[in-house]
Amino acid sequence: MSYSSGRQFVQLPGPTNVPERILRATSRPTIDHRGPEFGRLGLEILEGIKEVFQTSGTVVIYPSSGSGAWEGALTNTLSPGDKILMFEIGQFAALWIQVAVKLGLDVDVVPGDWRHGVDPQVVEARLAEDRSHKIKAVGVVHNETSSGVTSSVRAVRAAIDRAGHPALLLVDAISSLASIDYRHEEWGVDVTVAGSQKGLMLPPGLGFNAISKKALAASKSARLPRSYWDWEAMLTSNAKGFFPYTPATNLLYGLRESLQMLREEGLQNVFQRHKRHGEATRRAVRAWGLENVALDPKEYSHSVTAIYMPSGHSADEFRKVVLERFNMPLGTGLGKLQDKAFRIGHMGDFNDLMLAGTLGGVEMGLDIAGVPHRKGGIAAALDFLTESLKEVATPARA
Ligand SMILES: Cc1ncc(COP(=O)(O)O)c(C=O)c1O
Repeated sequence: MSYSSGRQFVQLPGPTNVPERILRATSRPTIDHRGPEFGRLGLEILEGIKEVFQTSGTVVIYPSSGSGAWEGALTNTLSPGDKILMFEIGQFAALWIQVAVKLGLDVDVVPGDWRHGVDPQVVEARLAEDRSHKIKAVGVVHNETSSGVTSSVRAVRAAIDRAGHPALLLVDAISSLASIDYRHEEWGVDVTVAGSQKGLMLPPGLGFNAISKKALAASKSARLPRSYWDWEAMLTSNAKGFFPYTPATNLLYGLRESLQMLREEGLQNVFQRHKRHGEATRRAVRAWGLENVALDPKEYSHSVTAIYMPSGHSADEFRKVVLERFNMPLGTGLGKLQDKAFRIGHMGDFNDLMLAGTLGGVEMGLDIAGVPHRKGGIAAALDFLTESLKEVATPARA
């Protein structure tokens, strides 16, 4: 295999580019996870991570991928046979549903077209019908990474409240946390599920559950079997900054650095940056004459854009061309979108020139792969980026 110059230009919607600062932080020697230095590290990050979830409540950190944190959310709050209302809005929602089924929950699935998010009116109607309160939880994916659709968690919360229903609200914020405004506490979320490899800019390997008081109370009587995911053991050890088993120490060094970087930039600025890059990407897609998978502009994701290939063309062949020619992996179409769509991640440690390079690789790839499109996507994106910078710059000079 010949040497490919330059760093691989990872443009996946997770894992995202891991910045040098975080890579350096993770490369420190591993310390005794039962010693005093670790205890200080644990307390610092367990406190610091709350800001990112926008909560004053408890957050637990698992040495796991996001799927583990899905299991943590379900097993700690529910009992065998409990009913849970879930929305199949895309591949990750479908996978979480499968986890719930395998765990022995009675899953009430609302199907979707994978182009729209969760409809709050359906949430309200389903809960209002459930007069005997058999539904114990509602499970929602905030940002569906397979389709680039973001649902309104605030609206889902309001729907639950309008129905006057006591169900817990469980939310997957794996590809929105630290990229798209996400407010665990204000939106009354009971358990938020997240992972390290997206907006937090870390390598894969940490899973998170942010937990409300109501969810913690539910965990006292929840009877689904759990051991590794058990909040009780975790929280007992966490009180002093420790973990009930060997933690991912080096990833926690990275997390400390990530929290520092997010603080330096400011969470609101991080959200704004992602929003701008999402808009610029969509302008490129429109200029190419390609079709966004997400249909409702209110639901466009700021962290990932999924794009349909024109019919008769293979998204996988196109991604292969881009990888081979430019060393840039793009997100594959998942599930129903396999080979029909590709995804551009604009998430994590990302800036205007990285987006310009990404769109450059896509536009050149479309050409080389013989995919019908119009020129001018990059130019449309750059025009938007430039104009929006002028808007920011003008008042400051005045
Ligand atoms: C929205 C969403 N949920 C869940 C997952 C699964 O997480 P993991 O692959 O870390 O287990 C992903 C992964 O990309 C995701 O994007």
